This record gives sequence, C-alpha cells and structure tokens, in this order.
Amino acid sequence: MNIYIKNIKELNCACDALILPFTEGDFGLYNNIGSTTSGLVKKLFSKEFHGKQNEVLLVPSPEDIKPERILLIGLGKKDEISTEKVRQAGGKAAVYLRDMGMKKIALSSRVLSSLKMSPADFMEGSLLGLYTFKRYVEEKNNKTIDSFVIPSKVSKVLKDDIHWIKTIASSVCFTRDLINTPSNDMTPSHLANAALSLERNNLLVKVLEKKDAEKLGMGAYLSVAKGSKEPPKFILLEYKGAKRAPLALIGKSITFDSGGISLKPAEGMEKMKYDMAGGAVVLGIFKAVSELKLPVNLVGVLPAAENLIGGFAAKPGDVVRAINGKSVEIINTDAEGRLVIADAIGYAKRFKPQAIIDIATLTGACSIALGNEAIAMMGNNRELINKIKKSADKTYERVWEMPLFDEYKEYLKSDIADIKNTGGKNGSLVTSAYFLYEFAGEVPWVHLDIAGTAWIEKEKPYMPKGASGIGIRLMLNLLKELK
Ligand code: BES
Ligand code: MN
Ligand code: ZN
Repeated sequence: MNIYIKNIKELNCACDALILPFTEGDFGLYNNIGSTTSGLVKKLFSKEFHGKQNEVLLVPSPEDIKPERILLIGLGKKDEISTEKVRQAGGKAAVYLRDMGMKKIALSSRVLSSLKMSPADFMEGSLLGLYTFKRYVEEKNNKTIDSFVIPSKVSKVLKDDIHWIKTIASSVCFTRDLINTPSNDMTPSHLANAALSLERNNLLVKVLEKKDAEKLGMGAYLSVAKGSKEPPKFILLEYKGAKRAPLALIGKSITFDSGGISLKPAEGMEKMKYDMAGGAVVLGIFKAVSELKLPVNLVGVLPAAENLIGGFAAKPGDVVRAINGKSVEIINTDAEGRLVIADAIGYAKRFKPQAIIDIATLTGACSIALGNEAIAMMGNNRELINKIKKSADKTYERVWEMPLFDEYKEYLKSDIADIKNTGGKNGSLVTSAYFLYEFAGEVPWVHLDIAGTAWIEKEKPYMPKGASGIGIRLMLNLLKELK
C-alpha cells in the first residue's frame, strides 16, 4: 500500500473515501471545509455521530466534491487525546474501509494537526491494523486498500515520520508472518533461512550448527533440542551502525514447545507455535534497524530449537552444563526457554555488550499476572529499565516491572547441581527471570516476558487476532533515543 503526501485541498482529492477525524462533540474545524460538506457533517454530528473513541460513520458525499464518500471517525475527548488514540483510530478506520471494499483513501489532517498529533501516527495504526495472514488461504476476496493520500503541505518531518512508520510496520508484519506460521513450516531451519534473507551490507547473519554448539559447550541449549529430529540452529546477527560496544538482543526461538517429557496438556497446545515470537521480534528489529540505517551497534542471538518428546529427549532430573560452566538440574523439561536463553546470554557476553536485552514467551504466569495488556520486565540495571519504560509509554507497548528479590535465589537451589531450572509454582514469573539473572551476572541486562502479549486472542483496533509482533516498536523507539 502506498502513502502519498499531496499539497492539495482534501475536497479536491479524488478517492473512494475521505476520512475526517473528530474529537467528541467538537465540530469546529470543519466549519470552513466547504459549505456542502460542512452542512452534511454538521447534520450528522447532532444525532448519528458523536466523535466517541473509535466510533465510525460512512456516508456518501455531496455532489460537488471529489471524494466519493466521507468516513467520520471519533478520537474521543479532546483533553484526553494521545498518540495511542490516534493510532487506534487509524487502525479502526482503515480496517472498516477495507472491509467495505474501498481502494483509494484520503485522510484529512486538519483536526490532527490542531491537536498537535501527526497523521503518521494515524497511518501507523492503519498499516498495522490492515495486516492479514494469507499463507494458507486462497485469495477469495480481493479486499485491499491500494493507496492513502494525506492532503497536506509536504514537510521533511512528515516525510521522515511516514518513512519511519512504514518501515516499522513492514517489519512488524514480517514478524507476525513468522510467528503465525505453524511449526511444520517454521522449524529452526526455516527461522534460520528467514534470518539469512535479511542479510545485506550492514547486516551479517551466521548460523551455528549443532556441532558448533557442542564445541562451545552449550549443554543447556542442546538439551532442549534433543527430543526432536529437527536440527537446532543457533542464529547470530550483527548490525554495525556505530563504533561503541554493541547492545545484545536475545530472542527465545522455540519453534514448538510441547513441554517435552513434562508434556503440556492438549488443550491450547497448538498455540505453542508462537514460542519463537521473541526470536521473530528480534529479526523484525534487525530488519527495521538495517533499513533505517540507525547509528547503533547490535548483536542478535536466536537459540532456535524444537522442544519435543522422543527417545532422546531430556528427562526431568537430568543435569546439563551451560556454556559458562554452570551445571543445571532440569526439574521440568517444559521450563526450556530459560535453558536456551542461559546459553544465549553466555554466548552474547563474548561480544562484550554494553547491555543485554532478552525477549521471550517465557512463562504462563506472565499472562496470569498481567493478562494480555503488558510485558513483564525484570532486570539488573535501573537506567536501562527506565529507558525501556519511557519507550513503552511512547509506543503503548506497555511494560510492567516485577522484582528480582535476593530471596528468589533460594527457590532455584538444587541438591546436586549449581542451579535448577524451576523454582516451583509460586513466583514462577519472577524466578524464571532470576534464573536468567544468574547467567547475566554483572552485565546490564533486562528480561522482557512477552508470553501474555505476543499472541492476541481478541482483536484490537490495530492488532488482528494472532501474532502481535509486540516488542519491535518498543525496541525501535528505544534505539532511536539511544543514538
Ligand atoms: N512457552 C512456555 C510459556 C508460555 C505459556 C508461553 C503459555 C505462552 C503461553 C514456557 O516454555 C513454559 O512452558 N513455561 C512453564 C514454566 C514452568 C514449567 C516452570 C510455565 O510457565 O508453565
Ligand atoms: Mn515450555
Ligand atoms: Zn516455551
């Protein structure tokens, strides 16, 4: 879909529908848009439409203007306006118009500008909302929007903002596709190929094989892959856009989590294809960063494996040794995420990173605590945590900090090894993070548990059901501020 900024009047814009955003009960700015349009909209505004958040009304337009139809969209109360509300309105309006079969759309920016909001935020919601997962269905209805015109003065700021949201939305959609793809078509090898497809001059991709991981002593990671015939792939990415020490991004990449010998219940197990969401998000981040050529240095680590049962699978009680020499007693083979991330952290440290951030669908307890509304965040570095909080507020990819109390160390004490991989039912969200903390040590590190937010059960204005791609916008905004 194309987005054009055109220096013309909105009523001279030939299109299937012109979007007019409104705040609640406020008609003011459309008084001088053109007499027939203004008259029509004024009439509707008293009864049919009020401007409530995400309220929509599509009407045929007056004879004397170029747009065929007008879509009124509500932004909610004027003094409660936020970029998130604008983004949601953008998603709601675009999806509504697409479903009505509209192809060419225009967006009036007069109300948005008066609210000091950017049409780019509205368009971000539209691009994210219009996503559909098409891999396995015949294209029956051809309902797609072809173009969006923003009638506005062409400015560098607006052009740059549109470029930014277009690049990011395309990365989010790339990532959603990877996550939505079921595990028979998204094995560790497929994920490695997806990573390799991103290779370009500023982005290096390398895939370590099982024998490489063995040589490196990644016993924790390899124990997870043992029950599957699919070979594990330890995927590495390097982006160089600056001179300083890199930021390491680790994404949990379990392409299917059956639980292993500690088998999960059948109900809902099909969703465990999204256990590689963290890895897919890291790929999305690299895609966007390399396209935007951001002045940062990144290392990406995706420890990809399938957690299955079989004659060679790891068993409860097994003891394995991680890359840093620590021995780990596997109490529950379903706590596999922390095992693969532990070795990924150990490996990432070799790059002498300024900080490590891991993104993972790590615990069911994450959704129990926060529902589908926030990422659980834990870390050992106040400054980094605060930066991520700021970015979360901006992008509405919200985070909620959970503690890493010293006492949790006790929960993970093993009788026969340095540490065990579960700390019991109580505090399972925080002890999973504490386990990782034991591997991060002194290196500034933050863990983001996206188990509750990576998958959307009930669609939201700019998030269709399925993979959300959460984490990309959060991290990109953070990286933008870091430069
Ligand atoms: N991948 C799961 C966590 C998960 C559950 C993600 C539901 C998304 C939705 C993870 O590997 C897991 O199984 N965690 C266990 C840990 C437990 C055995 C300590 C859990 O949370 O139940
Ligand atoms: Mn598991
Ligand atoms: Zn898992």
